[in-house]
Amino acid sequence: MNMAKTKVHTRYVCQQCGRVSASYMGKCPQCNSFNSMVEEVIHDEPVAKGPSTVRGLTGRSIPRPISEVGGEAEDRIHLPIGEFARVLGGGIVPGSIVLVGGDPGIGKSTLMLQMAMEMADKKRVLYVSGEESERQIKMRAVRLINGKKELPANLLLVTETNLEVILNHVRDSKPDLLIVDSIQTVYLSEMDSSAGSVSQVRECSSHLRELAKSTGVSVFMIGHVTKEGAIAGPRVLEHIVDTVLYLEGDRFQAYRLLRSVKNRFGATAEVGVFEMREGGLMEVTNPSEAFLAERLVNAAGSAIAVTMEGTRPILVEIQGLTSPTQFGNARRTPNGVDFNRLLLITAVLTRRVGLKLAEHDAFVNVVGGIQIDEPAADLAIAAAIASSWKDVPVRAEAVLIGEIGLAGELRMPGQMVARLREAQKLGFKIAIVPKAIRKGEEYPKGIEIIEVRSLDQALDAALKKDK
Ligand code: TYD
Ligand code: MG
Repeated sequence: MNMAKTKVHTRYVCQQCGRVSASYMGKCPQCNSFNSMVEEVIHDEPVAKGPSTVRGLTGRSIPRPISEVGGEAEDRIHLPIGEFARVLGGGIVPGSIVLVGGDPGIGKSTLMLQMAMEMADKKRVLYVSGEESERQIKMRAVRLINGKKELPANLLLVTETNLEVILNHVRDSKPDLLIVDSIQTVYLSEMDSSAGSVSQVRECSSHLRELAKSTGVSVFMIGHVTKEGAIAGPRVLEHIVDTVLYLEGDRFQAYRLLRSVKNRFGATAEVGVFEMREGGLMEVTNPSEAFLAERLVNAAGSAIAVTMEGTRPILVEIQGLTSPTQFGNARRTPNGVDFNRLLLITAVLTRRVGLKLAEHDAFVNVVGGIQIDEPAADLAIAAAIASSWKDVPVRAEAVLIGEIGLAGELRMPGQMVARLREAQKLGFKIAIVPKAIRKGEEYPKGIEIIEVRSLDQALDAALKKDK
């Protein structure tokens, strides 16, 4: 008999979390998703293992004294898009691998192409697309440049999905920057599963990571987000890459936030703000001003919150609307704030402040289409609702900062001084804040601080007419 080297058997891999099982399961025991297990054929012959060409490049490691290790203040590559650079932690790190996730149509390809064109002034960039033809990308590039300058000669485009071929292109054209649009379209032919499956996504990104680490090329991969809001194979991917960025925003609004959720080379939760326009994504360097631009002063049902996005405070307008419930149960409809947070705030308004919201629907909207997940905005949300219910505007010159507790008490959020400075910079005269138990840093002068202990007192102060 022939000494068969390859033994073929099958396994089942959860497409959500990458859990492997020998038999089919309707529900994944790791992430609890249903019908997410997909059969894969495995050849026991170590195809992907062994000294593959990519892996062999890593070279030997030599322990060195810490003082002799290079890389002071990092040799980052300057990125002329300031808002993007801030999210990366100050520029592109050579040999790093970055995942850019986001909903379809949100602007990931646009952002990457803009970056590619900016970088191609000084560096060599290879843009690999598995989604669009070279012609389509060129047309977009022409539109983005809009006759302002020449198309850069150092930007190479190729439509390709076979990762082996892509790696060969990288070897031949030796770019400083590689963009893969998207990781779900590339595949390794030695694997049986289809492009976009967890195994393909994991193996392909591991290869790209090896490439980055061994050659120093910086890799950006675009990743699609599933219906549930996660990048396909999220956990596996997050461990493989150095940095995970999400581009988010309301598709029907112009603002886009680029947020870092993991960053080996900088602060996480850092946020860059852009606006989608005809000519692509434009930086918004003063987001508070932009978010407040369309505000109606002295209208009931509007309050200003100061939220921290990464290290930067941003002022946003929160709108509230209450209206008598038409059928049955009162509804709570948040847009831009967490549903459960809204339930809590309306419950506290009902029980501790005495607003009769039980037979009123309550709607909350964060202007500009951004999502706030910080409890520091509680007070502004409550004030917007109370203001609508009482039909009394919140004092136009006031910002409200504070987390609401179940007893109607207020708690102090972090970074108060930074928040107050931003409010002052934008011309606000009053800040309604929780009473400090121990005074930390000195609050800025020039903005009147009204310290209150409870939600009740805060609303009294906020809904008073300006003198
Ligand atoms: P795209 O970058 O293709 O999204 P993704 O790669 O995340 O799927 O962007 C798609 C949207 O952006 C599309 O609806 C059109 C819009 N857009 C503009 O408004 N202005 C522009 O200059 C460009 C290039 C796109
Ligand atoms: Mg795209």
